[in-house]
Amino acid sequence: MKVLVVGSGGREHCLVWKIAQSDRIKEIFCAPGNGGTESLARNINIPASDIKTLADFAKSEAIDLSVVGPEVPLVGGIVDEFLRRGLKIFGSREEVARLEGSKVFAKEVMAKFSLPTAEFRIFDDKRQAADYIRTRSAPLVVKADGLASGKGVFVCESTDEALAAIKIIMAERKFGDAGGRIVVEECLRGEEASILAFSDGENILPLASSQDHKRIYDGDRGANTGGMGAYSPAPVITEALNQKINSEILQPLISGLNNEGKKYIGMLYVGLMLTDSGPKILEFNVRFGDPETQAILPRLKNDLVEVMLATIEGKLDKVTLSWERRPCICVVIASGGYPQEYEKNKEIFGLNQTEKLPDTFIFHAGTRREKEKCFTTGGRVLNVAALGDTLDKAKARAYQAIEKIKFEKMYFRRDIGWRALQR
Ligand SMILES: Nc1ncnc2c1ncn2[C@@H]1O[C@H](COP(=O)(O)OP(=O)(O)O)[C@@H](O)[C@H]1O
Ligand SMILES: [Mg+2]
Repeated sequence: MKVLVVGSGGREHCLVWKIAQSDRIKEIFCAPGNGGTESLARNINIPASDIKTLADFAKSEAIDLSVVGPEVPLVGGIVDEFLRRGLKIFGSREEVARLEGSKVFAKEVMAKFSLPTAEFRIFDDKRQAADYIRTRSAPLVVKADGLASGKGVFVCESTDEALAAIKIIMAERKFGDAGGRIVVEECLRGEEASILAFSDGENILPLASSQDHKRIYDGDRGANTGGMGAYSPAPVITEALNQKINSEILQPLISGLNNEGKKYIGMLYVGLMLTDSGPKILEFNVRFGDPETQAILPRLKNDLVEVMLATIEGKLDKVTLSWERRPCICVVIASGGYPQEYEKNKEIFGLNQTEKLPDTFIFHAGTRREKEKCFTTGGRVLNVAALGDTLDKAKARAYQAIEKIKFEKMYFRRDIGWRALQR
């Protein structure tokens, strides 16, 4: 088979790496890819958002299966376009990708199918939103409706902060059209975790649980980022909780959509807050998480291509996932300054010294290769994942590998996994 992976981050390098292990693979392409995907796939210089050119490429190369990493092309309808052209693709169609593309739509779906989530109100008028906020007591959460690269959510400890968030989203239009509507919701307290699941429209196949660290500094402090590290499994998600999530969230969502003629096919990511009154949905993503994927896939024993094909063909009931018992941890190495301003084009040293380390996987995120050298191109640069007999040992292994890597102003958190280790 010829496979095309769309995207350029650590998640996509990890997908390429896992797909490359399948017996069925003849050739892998990655668009646009990065300095890491280049060693396993042919990087194709087409941006992940350029749906038409990607479809032209898949058609002319006779690609047998395309796999979409990021949300932007999914929300933009890449799956519908590929299917129209008779191309096989793993991902959710536009009508259900809205679960991530519109937080208003997602909340409406949660309400319709009685899924547990924070109480909320929707506004398209900033004055009405402000009036409502003045009647409620803080804390409150204000969310821009559309895609905002993980920056459109404001957890507000005071009424003034919530009013300021409305101004940024709806008056200043910091996120453009994504700020045409907002969701104002109750602030939930608890520990966050995520569940990823394959869905073929009828059958749900959850992956091993995971938790990520969103904040930039140790102790989960500072600004939100795309994710600074993750681990799998998340010990906070017990077997009983897993079953509850399955029966109260995953199943009713997928069958509710199915009953409306909207089959959810692809990867579903549910962000959860584990509250005292049970798991509640924070958000849906319609794709593999980044960096959760880099902590989950090294533990998956199945052939990923087989599972993806079964998903597309509606045969997930015939698949059982099998997992490496050992936990996996993934630490993100970023450019100093991220998630604000940072410098690029720094040469990365020491990568070759990490190649032979056992049970250690280096996934590239923001890198490019130039002959023998490798340079930074983004905020999140590298993901160092490691398996270990215990999470502690996995962590030690990942940080040992990081010791060998150097570039100017490199930054990483030193406490990835602390919540699980504290248990
Ligand atoms: N209702 C809520 N209560 C408490 N925290 C929330 C709530 N909604 C979101 N958050 C926090 O904000 C973060 C981002 O929100 P999320 O809905 O996941 O949007 P996105 O990932 O698109 O930015 C969450 O990971 C969580 O930490
Ligand atoms: Mg989120």
